[in-house]
Amino acid sequence: MTLHDHAPRIAPSILSADFARLADEIAMCEAGGADWIHVDVMDGQFVPNITFGTKVIETVRKLTELPLDCHLMIVQPERYFEDFVEAGASGITIHAEVSPHLQRQLARLRELGCRAGVALNPSTSLTGIVEVIADLDLLLVMTVNPGFGGQSFIPHSPDKIRRARRVLAEAGSRAVLEVDGGIARDTIGDCWRAGADTFVAGNAIFAAKDPQAEIGILREQCAISV
Ligand code: DX5
Ligand code: ZN
Repeated sequence: MTLHDHAPRIAPSILSADFARLADEIAMCEAGGADWIHVDVMDGQFVPNITFGTKVIETVRKLTELPLDCHLMIVQPERYFEDFVEAGASGITIHAEVSPHLQRQLARLRELGCRAGVALNPSTSLTGIVEVIADLDLLLVMTVNPGFGGQSFIPHSPDKIRRARRVLAEAGSRAVLEVDGGIARDTIGDCWRAGADTFVAGNAIFAAKDPQAEIGILREQCAISV
């Protein structure tokens, strides 16, 4: 059996985009072949940083037809599910660390017609999702501690990704296995080989000399890594 049944998905994180030129940046992502647009919502409580909310999602929604992959790094995320879905979120990922009623929260996301995702911090064990695999459309394994773009990839992450892939496979789950943080030319191949299929990249794309080409280059790194 092959590890992957489709090409790697690339999800540029607009956290690293130039917001004065947001429309151009989104158009660049589309032209470069991005699969999803990753939107990082931070509240200054779960993570130290504050970013943006529904207003920005609404704006991005008007700029592209690509799925909006919304990563909520906020406490009590369920308070905002309806708002984010209405603003145009295609998928919502919440953190297990701040979601004690994960089963109910994931079921609610599906009810709202949204891809239901759970993110795990680097220090959070995979056991946190074992009981909710049936409710899960996406598992996000953080490869940095969330809060900021441009951080270094945590080197032992591929081992956790490998174990995450195994847990999903054993449960017969078809959930997306996404990674986020420090994904770049030198780290993406190891994650793909470990079983990740969807790659968030901020700095690696937006700080590249040719951001549009970088999206394809990242995808190619997966192909040559196997
Ligand atoms: C980190 C965010 C990431 C971030 C990734 O807390 O969740 O999505 O934008 O940025 P890079 O790719 O620069 O590490
Ligand atoms: Zn993110």
